[in-house]
Amino acid sequence: MRRLLLWMAGNGWLRRNLPRLWFTRRAVRRFMPGETAEEAIAAAEKFRQQGTPVLFTLLGENLTRIEDADAHAQEYLEVIAEINERGLDAEISVKPTQLGYDLDQTRTLGHLERLADAAAPRTVWIDMESSAYTEGTVALYEALKRSRPNSGLCLQSYLKRTHSDIERLLPLAPRIRMVKGAYAEPAEICYRSRREVDANYLALCVWMLDQLRNGHELFLGLGTHDVDLVRQVADYARSAGFEGIPFDVEMLYGIRADQQQRLKEEGFPVRVLIAYGRAWYPWYMRRLAERPANVIFAIRQLLPPW
Ligand code: FDA
Repeated sequence: MRRLLLWMAGNGWLRRNLPRLWFTRRAVRRFMPGETAEEAIAAAEKFRQQGTPVLFTLLGENLTRIEDADAHAQEYLEVIAEINERGLDAEISVKPTQLGYDLDQTRTLGHLERLADAAAPRTVWIDMESSAYTEGTVALYEALKRSRPNSGLCLQSYLKRTHSDIERLLPLAPRIRMVKGAYAEPAEICYRSRREVDANYLALCVWMLDQLRNGHELFLGLGTHDVDLVRQVADYARSAGFEGIPFDVEMLYGIRADQQQRLKEEGFPVRVLIAYGRAWYPWYMRRLAERPANVIFAIRQLLPPW
Protein backbone atom coordinates (compact mmCIF):
# COMPACT_ATOMS: atom_id res chain seq x y z
CA MET A 1 0.00 0.00 0.00
CA ARG A 2 2.80 2.44 0.93
CA ARG A 3 4.61 1.81 -2.37
CA LEU A 4 1.39 2.19 -4.36
CA LEU A 5 0.56 5.49 -2.68
CA LEU A 6 4.09 6.80 -3.22
CA TRP A 7 3.88 5.79 -6.89
CA MET A 8 0.57 7.65 -7.12
CA ALA A 9 2.27 10.69 -5.54
CA GLY A 10 4.67 10.88 -8.49
CA ASN A 11 2.19 10.10 -11.28
CA GLY A 12 1.58 13.13 -13.52
CA TRP A 13 -1.91 12.12 -14.73
CA LEU A 14 -3.17 11.53 -11.21
CA ARG A 15 -1.50 14.73 -10.05
CA ARG A 16 -3.51 16.67 -12.65
CA ASN A 17 -6.83 14.90 -12.15
CA LEU A 18 -7.30 13.57 -8.61
CA PRO A 19 -7.20 16.99 -6.91
CA ARG A 20 -10.23 18.02 -9.01
CA LEU A 21 -12.44 15.48 -7.26
CA TRP A 22 -14.48 17.02 -4.49
CA PHE A 23 -13.96 14.18 -2.05
CA THR A 24 -10.16 14.41 -2.26
CA ARG A 25 -10.43 18.14 -1.67
CA ARG A 26 -12.53 17.46 1.39
CA ALA A 27 -10.24 14.72 2.70
CA VAL A 28 -7.10 16.85 2.46
CA ARG A 29 -8.62 19.41 4.83
CA ARG A 30 -7.72 17.05 7.63
CA PHE A 31 -4.05 17.89 7.07
CA MET A 32 -4.21 21.54 6.06
CA PRO A 33 -6.42 24.45 7.14
CA GLY A 34 -6.84 25.69 3.56
CA GLU A 35 -5.14 26.53 0.30
CA THR A 36 -4.45 30.22 0.96
CA ALA A 37 -1.85 32.03 3.06
CA GLU A 38 -4.71 33.82 4.84
CA GLU A 39 -6.14 30.49 6.02
CA ALA A 40 -2.70 29.30 7.14
CA ILE A 41 -2.15 32.51 9.10
CA ALA A 42 -5.60 32.31 10.67
CA ALA A 43 -4.72 28.78 11.86
CA ALA A 44 -1.42 30.08 13.25
CA GLU A 45 -3.30 32.74 15.20
CA LYS A 46 -5.37 29.98 16.82
CA PHE A 47 -2.20 28.13 17.75
CA ARG A 48 -0.80 31.38 19.17
CA GLN A 49 -3.73 31.51 21.60
CA GLN A 50 -2.61 28.10 22.91
CA GLY A 51 1.03 29.26 23.05
CA THR A 52 2.09 26.98 20.20
CA PRO A 53 4.63 28.23 17.65
CA VAL A 54 4.30 27.17 14.00
CA LEU A 55 6.12 26.55 10.75
CA PHE A 56 4.60 27.46 7.38
CA THR A 57 5.19 25.57 4.19
CA LEU A 58 3.77 26.47 0.80
CA LEU A 59 3.07 23.27 -1.10
CA GLY A 60 4.50 22.73 -4.58
CA GLU A 61 7.57 20.93 -5.91
CA ASN A 62 9.47 20.04 -9.10
CA LEU A 63 8.60 23.17 -11.07
CA THR A 64 9.00 23.35 -14.82
CA ARG A 65 8.90 27.15 -15.21
CA ILE A 66 11.42 29.40 -13.49
CA GLU A 67 8.80 32.15 -13.16
CA ASP A 68 6.94 29.83 -10.76
CA ALA A 69 10.04 29.67 -8.55
CA ASP A 70 10.18 33.46 -8.45
CA ALA A 71 6.46 33.58 -7.62
CA HIS A 72 6.94 31.07 -4.77
CA ALA A 73 9.82 33.11 -3.36
CA GLN A 74 7.65 36.22 -3.55
CA GLU A 75 4.80 34.44 -1.78
CA TYR A 76 7.13 33.34 1.02
CA LEU A 77 8.41 36.92 1.34
CA GLU A 78 4.83 38.11 1.78
CA VAL A 79 4.20 35.48 4.45
CA ILE A 80 7.39 36.48 6.25
CA ALA A 81 6.28 40.14 6.15
CA GLU A 82 2.96 39.09 7.70
CA ILE A 83 4.76 37.02 10.38
CA ASN A 84 6.93 40.04 11.22
CA GLU A 85 4.01 42.45 11.30
CA ARG A 86 1.92 40.22 13.56
CA GLY A 87 4.88 39.21 15.73
CA LEU A 88 4.05 35.53 15.24
CA ASP A 89 6.44 32.87 16.52
CA ALA A 90 6.58 31.29 13.07
CA GLU A 91 9.24 29.96 10.73
CA ILE A 92 9.10 28.84 7.12
CA SER A 93 10.14 25.58 5.53
CA VAL A 94 10.94 25.44 1.84
CA LYS A 95 11.59 22.74 -0.77
CA PRO A 96 14.56 23.46 -3.08
CA THR A 97 12.63 22.27 -6.14
CA GLN A 98 9.82 24.74 -5.43
CA LEU A 99 12.43 27.48 -5.68
CA GLY A 100 13.57 26.19 -9.07
CA TYR A 101 16.42 23.85 -8.04
CA ASP A 102 15.84 21.65 -11.14
CA LEU A 103 16.21 24.66 -13.42
CA ASP A 104 18.70 27.14 -11.92
CA GLN A 105 20.53 26.32 -8.70
CA THR A 106 22.19 29.71 -8.37
CA ARG A 107 18.78 31.34 -8.45
CA THR A 108 17.51 28.91 -5.81
CA LEU A 109 20.36 29.88 -3.49
CA GLY A 110 19.65 33.56 -4.15
CA HIS A 111 15.98 33.06 -3.22
CA LEU A 112 16.96 31.22 -0.03
CA GLU A 113 19.34 34.04 0.93
CA ARG A 114 16.61 36.63 0.46
CA LEU A 115 14.15 34.58 2.52
CA ALA A 116 16.71 34.10 5.31
CA ASP A 117 17.47 37.85 5.35
CA ALA A 118 13.79 38.74 5.55
CA ALA A 119 13.06 36.15 8.24
CA ALA A 120 16.12 36.75 10.47
CA PRO A 121 16.52 36.00 13.32
CA ARG A 122 13.84 33.34 12.72
CA THR A 123 15.02 30.13 11.05
CA VAL A 124 14.38 29.38 7.39
CA TRP A 125 14.29 25.62 6.93
CA ILE A 126 15.19 23.62 3.83
CA ASP A 127 13.10 20.48 3.46
CA MET A 128 14.75 17.29 2.23
CA GLU A 129 13.23 15.76 -0.90
CA SER A 130 13.97 12.40 -2.55
CA SER A 131 17.49 10.97 -2.64
CA ALA A 132 18.08 12.38 -6.15
CA TYR A 133 18.42 15.72 -4.34
CA THR A 134 20.21 14.77 -1.12
CA GLU A 135 23.77 15.63 -2.13
CA GLY A 136 22.69 18.83 -3.89
CA THR A 137 20.54 19.92 -0.96
CA VAL A 138 23.30 19.34 1.61
CA ALA A 139 25.67 21.38 -0.60
CA LEU A 140 23.01 24.10 -0.97
CA TYR A 141 22.64 24.24 2.79
CA GLU A 142 26.43 24.47 3.27
CA ALA A 143 26.50 27.45 0.93
CA LEU A 144 23.54 29.12 2.65
CA LYS A 145 24.62 28.44 6.23
CA ARG A 146 28.05 30.04 5.71
CA SER A 147 26.45 33.44 5.21
CA ARG A 148 23.00 32.97 6.79
CA PRO A 149 23.33 31.43 10.28
CA ASN A 150 19.52 31.44 10.67
CA SER A 151 19.05 28.56 8.26
CA GLY A 152 18.25 24.92 8.99
CA LEU A 153 18.13 21.63 7.10
CA CYS A 154 15.92 18.58 7.29
CA LEU A 155 17.72 15.20 7.26
CA GLN A 156 16.21 11.71 7.00
CA SER A 157 17.02 8.75 9.26
CA TYR A 158 16.06 6.20 6.58
CA LEU A 159 19.12 7.21 4.53
CA LYS A 160 22.36 5.41 5.38
CA ARG A 161 24.41 8.50 4.53
CA THR A 162 22.81 10.81 7.11
CA HIS A 163 25.40 10.29 9.85
CA SER A 164 28.19 11.41 7.53
CA ASP A 165 26.08 14.37 6.36
CA ILE A 166 25.76 15.56 9.95
CA GLU A 167 29.51 15.10 10.52
CA ARG A 168 30.15 17.16 7.40
CA LEU A 169 27.82 19.94 8.59
CA LEU A 170 28.96 20.01 12.22
CA PRO A 171 31.65 22.72 11.76
CA LEU A 172 28.90 25.04 10.47
CA ALA A 173 26.86 24.93 13.71
CA PRO A 174 23.93 23.39 11.84
CA ARG A 175 20.26 23.59 12.70
CA ILE A 176 18.91 20.13 11.93
CA ARG A 177 15.38 18.78 11.78
CA MET A 178 15.51 14.99 11.96
CA VAL A 179 12.71 13.11 10.20
CA LYS A 180 12.32 9.46 9.23
CA GLY A 181 11.87 10.15 5.48
CA ALA A 182 8.81 10.17 3.25
CA TYR A 183 9.90 8.99 -0.24
CA ALA A 184 10.25 5.62 -1.99
CA GLU A 185 14.00 4.99 -2.07
CA PRO A 186 16.20 2.16 -3.43
CA ALA A 187 17.17 -0.50 -0.86
CA GLU A 188 20.94 0.01 -1.37
CA ILE A 189 20.91 3.50 0.10
CA CYS A 190 18.26 3.30 2.78
CA TYR A 191 16.98 1.32 5.72
CA ARG A 192 13.73 -0.31 4.82
CA SER A 193 12.34 -1.81 8.02
CA ARG A 194 10.63 0.40 10.53
CA ARG A 195 12.85 -1.05 13.26
CA GLU A 196 16.04 0.00 11.46
CA VAL A 197 14.74 3.48 10.56
CA ASP A 198 13.70 4.09 14.18
CA ALA A 199 16.99 2.71 15.55
CA ASN A 200 18.96 5.00 13.25
CA TYR A 201 16.78 7.95 14.23
CA LEU A 202 17.51 7.38 17.90
CA ALA A 203 21.23 6.76 17.29
CA LEU A 204 21.56 9.97 15.24
CA CYS A 205 19.77 12.06 17.87
CA VAL A 206 21.83 10.56 20.69
CA TRP A 207 24.99 11.26 18.73
CA MET A 208 23.94 14.86 18.09
CA LEU A 209 23.16 15.38 21.78
CA ASP A 210 26.64 14.05 22.58
CA GLN A 211 28.12 16.60 20.16
CA LEU A 212 26.08 19.33 21.84
CA ARG A 213 27.29 18.25 25.26
CA ASN A 214 30.88 18.27 24.00
CA GLY A 215 30.57 21.94 23.10
CA HIS A 216 29.50 21.81 19.44
CA GLU A 217 26.92 24.39 18.49
CA LEU A 218 23.86 22.82 16.91
CA PHE A 219 20.08 22.98 17.07
CA LEU A 220 18.03 19.79 16.98
CA GLY A 221 14.38 19.51 16.02
CA LEU A 222 12.60 16.16 16.07
CA GLY A 223 10.16 16.18 13.14
CA THR A 224 8.13 13.15 14.07
CA HIS A 225 4.79 12.01 15.49
CA ASP A 226 6.51 9.03 17.08
CA VAL A 227 6.02 9.99 20.71
CA ASP A 228 7.83 6.89 22.03
CA LEU A 229 10.90 7.91 20.08
CA VAL A 230 10.65 11.49 21.35
CA ARG A 231 10.53 10.14 24.90
CA GLN A 232 13.54 7.89 24.28
CA VAL A 233 15.57 10.88 23.08
CA ALA A 234 14.39 12.87 26.10
CA ASP A 235 15.36 10.00 28.43
CA TYR A 236 18.82 9.94 26.93
CA ALA A 237 19.15 13.73 27.33
CA ARG A 238 18.19 13.44 30.97
CA SER A 239 20.64 10.58 31.61
CA ALA A 240 23.37 12.59 29.85
CA GLY A 241 22.85 15.44 32.32
CA PHE A 242 21.03 17.99 30.17
CA GLU A 243 18.84 20.37 32.09
CA GLY A 244 15.43 20.72 30.45
CA ILE A 245 14.72 19.40 26.97
CA PRO A 246 17.51 20.30 24.56
CA PHE A 247 15.46 19.87 21.37
CA ASP A 248 12.20 20.94 19.74
CA VAL A 249 9.42 18.59 18.66
CA GLU A 250 7.79 19.40 15.32
CA MET A 251 4.59 17.79 14.13
CA LEU A 252 2.22 18.31 11.23
CA TYR A 253 -1.08 20.14 11.52
CA GLY A 254 -3.91 17.67 12.06
CA ILE A 255 -1.75 14.68 13.01
CA ARG A 256 -1.84 13.41 16.59
CA ALA A 257 -3.09 16.76 17.92
CA ASP A 258 -3.83 15.08 21.26
CA GLN A 259 -0.19 14.03 21.59
CA GLN A 260 1.00 17.50 20.58
CA GLN A 261 -1.01 18.92 23.46
CA ARG A 262 0.14 16.28 25.90
CA LEU A 263 3.81 16.79 25.11
CA LYS A 264 3.36 20.53 25.53
CA GLU A 265 1.78 20.02 28.94
CA GLU A 266 4.78 17.91 29.91
CA GLY A 267 7.10 20.79 28.99
CA PHE A 268 8.29 19.71 25.54
CA PRO A 269 8.74 22.65 23.14
CA VAL A 270 6.29 21.71 20.36
CA ARG A 271 5.97 23.47 16.99
CA VAL A 272 3.26 22.67 14.44
CA LEU A 273 3.89 22.67 10.70
CA ILE A 274 1.05 24.24 8.72
CA ALA A 275 1.03 23.40 5.02
CA TYR A 276 -1.03 25.40 2.55
CA GLY A 277 -1.28 26.00 -1.19
CA ARG A 278 -3.06 24.55 -4.18
CA ALA A 279 -0.36 22.05 -5.20
CA TRP A 280 -1.08 19.67 -2.34
CA TYR A 281 -1.54 16.41 -4.24
CA PRO A 282 1.96 14.73 -3.94
CA TRP A 283 2.37 15.97 -0.37
CA TYR A 284 -1.06 14.63 0.58
CA MET A 285 -0.33 11.23 -1.00
CA ARG A 286 2.84 10.98 1.09
CA ARG A 287 0.72 11.63 4.22
CA LEU A 288 -1.58 8.78 3.18
CA ALA A 289 1.44 6.53 2.57
CA GLU A 290 2.68 7.19 6.10
CA ARG A 291 -0.47 5.72 7.52
CA PRO A 292 -2.55 3.73 5.05
CA ALA A 293 -5.47 3.83 7.53
CA ASN A 294 -5.80 7.45 6.35
CA VAL A 295 -7.02 6.07 3.02
CA ILE A 296 -10.12 4.79 4.79
CA PHE A 297 -10.68 8.28 6.15
CA ALA A 298 -10.36 9.67 2.60
CA ILE A 299 -12.82 7.12 1.20
CA ARG A 300 -15.28 7.92 3.99
CA GLN A 301 -15.53 11.43 2.55
CA LEU A 302 -17.47 9.84 -0.31
CA LEU A 303 -20.24 8.87 2.05
CA PRO A 304 -22.87 11.26 3.37
CA PRO A 305 -22.12 12.56 6.89
CA TRP A 306 -23.76 10.70 9.76
P1 FDA B 1 5.75 6.96 12.15
O1 FDA B 1 5.38 6.85 10.71
O2 FDA B 1 6.43 5.81 12.79
O3 FDA B 1 4.46 7.35 12.96
C1 FDA B 1 4.45 7.53 14.36
C2 FDA B 1 3.01 7.62 14.81
O4 FDA B 1 2.37 8.76 14.20
C3 FDA B 1 2.17 6.40 14.42
O5 FDA B 1 1.25 6.15 15.46
C4 FDA B 1 1.45 6.83 13.19
O6 FDA B 1 0.23 6.17 13.03
C5 FDA B 1 1.26 8.34 13.42
N1 FDA B 1 1.34 9.00 12.09
C6 FDA B 1 2.44 9.20 11.34
N2 FDA B 1 2.12 9.79 10.17
C7 FDA B 1 0.77 9.92 10.18
C8 FDA B 1 -0.15 10.43 9.25
N3 FDA B 1 0.22 10.90 8.06
N4 FDA B 1 -1.46 10.42 9.59
C9 FDA B 1 -1.87 9.95 10.81
N5 FDA B 1 -1.03 9.44 11.73
C10 FDA B 1 0.27 9.42 11.42
N6 FDA B 1 9.94 13.99 5.27
C11 FDA B 1 10.88 14.18 4.33
O7 FDA B 1 11.28 13.22 3.65
N7 FDA B 1 11.40 15.42 4.12
C12 FDA B 1 11.04 16.50 4.87
O8 FDA B 1 11.52 17.61 4.65
C13 FDA B 1 10.06 16.30 5.91
N8 FDA B 1 9.67 17.33 6.72
C14 FDA B 1 8.87 17.07 7.80
C15 FDA B 1 8.62 18.07 8.75
C16 FDA B 1 7.88 17.77 9.89
C17 FDA B 1 7.63 18.85 10.91
C18 FDA B 1 7.34 16.45 10.07
C19 FDA B 1 6.54 16.11 11.29
C20 FDA B 1 7.57 15.48 9.14
C21 FDA B 1 8.32 15.77 7.99
N9 FDA B 1 8.58 14.77 7.04
C22 FDA B 1 9.52 15.01 6.07
C23 FDA B 1 7.82 13.50 7.06
C24 FDA B 1 8.58 12.38 7.77
O9 FDA B 1 9.68 11.96 7.02
C25 FDA B 1 7.68 11.15 8.01
O10 FDA B 1 7.28 10.64 6.76
C26 FDA B 1 6.43 11.44 8.83
O11 FDA B 1 6.72 12.31 9.88
C27 FDA B 1 5.84 10.11 9.41
O12 FDA B 1 6.75 9.50 10.23
P2 FDA B 1 6.78 9.65 11.83
O13 FDA B 1 8.13 10.12 12.21
O14 FDA B 1 5.68 10.51 12.28
O15 FDA B 1 6.72 8.19 12.40
